[in-house]
Amino acid sequence: MTDKIPIYQPTLDGNEKTYVNECLESNWISSKGRFIPEFEKKFAEYTGVKHAVSVCNGTVALHLALVALGIGPGDEVIVPTLTYISSANAIAYTGATPVFVDSLENTWQMDPEDVLRKLTDRTRAIMAVHLYGHPCDMDALTSIAQEKALFLIEDCAEGFGALYKGKHVGGFGDISTYSFYGNKTITTGEGGVVVTNDETLYDRSVHFKGQGLAMHRQYWHDVIGYNYRMTNICAALGLAQLEQADSLIERKRKIADLYKDGLANLPVTFHDETQDVKHSFWMCSILLDDPVKRDPFRKALEKAGIETRPLFYPIHTMPMYSSKFQRHPVAESLGWRGINLPSWPGLSEEQIQYICEKIIRFVKGSG
Ligand SMILES: Cc1ncc(COP(=O)(O)O)c(C=O)c1O
Repeated sequence: MTDKIPIYQPTLDGNEKTYVNECLESNWISSKGRFIPEFEKKFAEYTGVKHAVSVCNGTVALHLALVALGIGPGDEVIVPTLTYISSANAIAYTGATPVFVDSLENTWQMDPEDVLRKLTDRTRAIMAVHLYGHPCDMDALTSIAQEKALFLIEDCAEGFGALYKGKHVGGFGDISTYSFYGNKTITTGEGGVVVTNDETLYDRSVHFKGQGLAMHRQYWHDVIGYNYRMTNICAALGLAQLEQADSLIERKRKIADLYKDGLANLPVTFHDETQDVKHSFWMCSILLDDPVKRDPFRKALEKAGIETRPLFYPIHTMPMYSSKFQRHPVAESLGWRGINLPSWPGLSEEQIQYICEKIIRFVKGSG
């Protein structure tokens, strides 16, 4: 196998070109045009929520959700330390403080018991992140949020297509967000949405996303808003991707099965789904038994033309968030041992077999 195998690449073989060309031919290339409301409506229908507000990426989606909730200076928001940096940064943008929690060993998702330990009288919200496409324990998190009168935000950037007890993630929280970056399960190039079932949060999201424009007077602004709008071109891509969502997700689940079979009986742990959830396998991931092996492992795969990623480094270890350093032993152990494998829907069985062979050779010591 001579071609390099990337960690991800989008599948754009549906109506993407037709819809994007329609934008170009009709001149609707900015943030007005038919694809925006259509994409929002179809996205909300697909994920089973009332409202979807399109935005220009998943990071601003998180910021907008927090702004819509009125989170700000003096507030604390509970967030897993094992996540992409955006989850914590969006909290920091508001002036609030991210408070990190550890992960569960089996699902790699935020640990509800640690959430309870980290609550203070300044806690305003819990941000659940469905890491790598595996849902969080939403029964536990929704009941903590209800009992303690906290907002629940779901960061579903990596969770598109994931189900918890048969229901799409994103519909459990007060407000939730998605990302459509080029490596996401469905992509708009750059893009995101905020989803909610709450009318007030929907209105506030629309208001702050569009420069805080007042409802009843043109060019009159009554809050300091943002330009977080998605373009019609991105929404056109998004609509075409949504049309293929079921097949993309099923293909990714099939790829996960092929990895599981190919790596069976090796001393590596596959990030598998637990009972009562549907893992979307945004990233197929494994854990090595020893963190020291991780970099040589990635190097060996790179030499074989296979791109991998390390699991996210726990955010509480990064300089800007480590001033009140506390140990998060599970997240640290996962973070140093974990690897994301190529996970895009277009991967062939032959490519997966090749990747598994290289992994087996490495793990068995002849790598
Ligand atoms: C968990 C998580 N949250 C937020 C984001 C931010 O999304 P974006 O890259 O579209 O800003 C990502 C993205 O990659 C992510 O993985």
